[in-house]
Amino acid sequence: MKQEIGVGLIGLGVVGGGVARALLERRDYFARQVGAQLVVRRAAVRDLQKPRTVELPPGTLTDNVSELLDDPGIDIIVEVIGGEEPAGTFIRGALKAGKHVVTANKELIAKHGPELLAEAHSRGLDIMFEASVGGGIPLIAPLRRDLLANRISSIRAIINGTTNYIVTSMASEGAMAEALRKQGLEPVDRGGYAEALASAQELGYAEPDPTNDVEGYDAAYKLAIMASLGFRTRVRPSDIHTEGITRLGARDFQYAQELGYVIKLLAIAERTDGGIVARVAPVFLPQSEPLAKVDGVYNAVQIEGDLTGQVLLQGRGAGADPTSSAVVADLLDLSHGIVLGNRERKYWALESDTPVLGLDALESRYYVRVTVADRSGVLAQIAQTLGDHGVSIAAVNQKEANEDDQTAELVIMTHRAREGAMQNALRDIAALSVVVQVSSFLRVEG
Ligand code: NDP
Ligand code: HSE
Repeated sequence: MKQEIGVGLIGLGVVGGGVARALLERRDYFARQVGAQLVVRRAAVRDLQKPRTVELPPGTLTDNVSELLDDPGIDIIVEVIGGEEPAGTFIRGALKAGKHVVTANKELIAKHGPELLAEAHSRGLDIMFEASVGGGIPLIAPLRRDLLANRISSIRAIINGTTNYIVTSMASEGAMAEALRKQGLEPVDRGGYAEALASAQELGYAEPDPTNDVEGYDAAYKLAIMASLGFRTRVRPSDIHTEGITRLGARDFQYAQELGYVIKLLAIAERTDGGIVARVAPVFLPQSEPLAKVDGVYNAVQIEGDLTGQVLLQGRGAGADPTSSAVVADLLDLSHGIVLGNRERKYWALESDTPVLGLDALESRYYVRVTVADRSGVLAQIAQTLGDHGVSIAAVNQKEANEDDQTAELVIMTHRAREGAMQNALRDIAALSVVVQVSSFLRVEG
């Protein structure tokens, strides 16, 4: 029986550092659970001079990934550098060299997961990717195994820790501004967005390029993986309508609070009669909804199965410790299999070619914030334009006028309407001479 499992780490940053620390500090416990010692034989980084948060035995570090791939003492490669390339080349190289792979790389799995897994299986190897979605929350294993008996009808998730941390911080600033206004005081914009993003980066939540977080791409990669597993059909990131949080203003948070909502970046995939509709966008969510109470770096995923009903999985979605928990779980699972001589491979069989539909098929309620000229008849023109497209107004509120530039702000909530009709109405509203700009547009959930 194998006494030692050799591990090679590609990447020793936030996640790689957390994994190395856990493997060193919990070595004896893991050995008892698995039946063999897990030993970090080599770790590849980009910059050998960078200070590290974890101390590895001398000679472990290298800046040459081939040294890991060519090392016959390494059984499992852990890829934690992120991005499509060179990570994809390293993973294919690891498979060619007969090594199993554990990865936290949502972009690579979302874009190429089924092909990479097929290649691994053809060689009698596994690729495990629990850490690619939801940090420390068990999500891949439940979708692959525990919920397999179900026909899944929807997945609704807060699935990016960085953006949830930012919107939570902006919401608390919005609540404070609202309280100050009630006392007749004018709140000062404290730059909630920029401060919160910097803080999320410092805490190790953000992607190496945080554009992926704030523009919604990271959430779309994760939704593509969850939807492909849950619906057993291929959902690609390019199938997912994706909006980020960069266009949200402090006022949207204040108005959401006033109207009894919170703003959350939601990733939603739903099965409809015609196919699957998948989107990532900030939405108005009633304060009473379970997902509305998920704050900060916490993530949560609501899955609706026909046998289970609703399942809610919640936990810390980013950071070194929670993510290392998921990576190490995959490592332990693979190691146990190696020790037992297990030849069965984890599967991800795609069943159908259910089409993924565009957003035109969606029906929703909407929140629109419009900056207009402060004069009579403006509201009537906007109401007429919405009406022309079959969109009916549920409530409208005129906010205080800006006397300096003679503008006012209108906040409109609509009844349910087709997305296509709403987009056409917005285009025509933006073209009205009395409209300065459509400042914000969000779907209203619940
Ligand atoms: P970091 O930027 O903190 O770390 C990246 C590591 O990869 C660094 O050690 C870097 O080396 C190394 N690296 C980059 N390019 C190369 C290369 N070409 N060859 C060798 N080493 C390289 O990123 P994270 O740890 O935050 O993220 C890693 C992965 O984990 C990403 O896929 C991310 O999406 C995913 N993930 C991250 C989570 C988080 O909370 N941070 C949570 C869940 C998943 P050096 O240190 O020398 O620069
Ligand atoms: N940048 C990601 C997030 C890391 O903020 O959720 C976890 O995948």
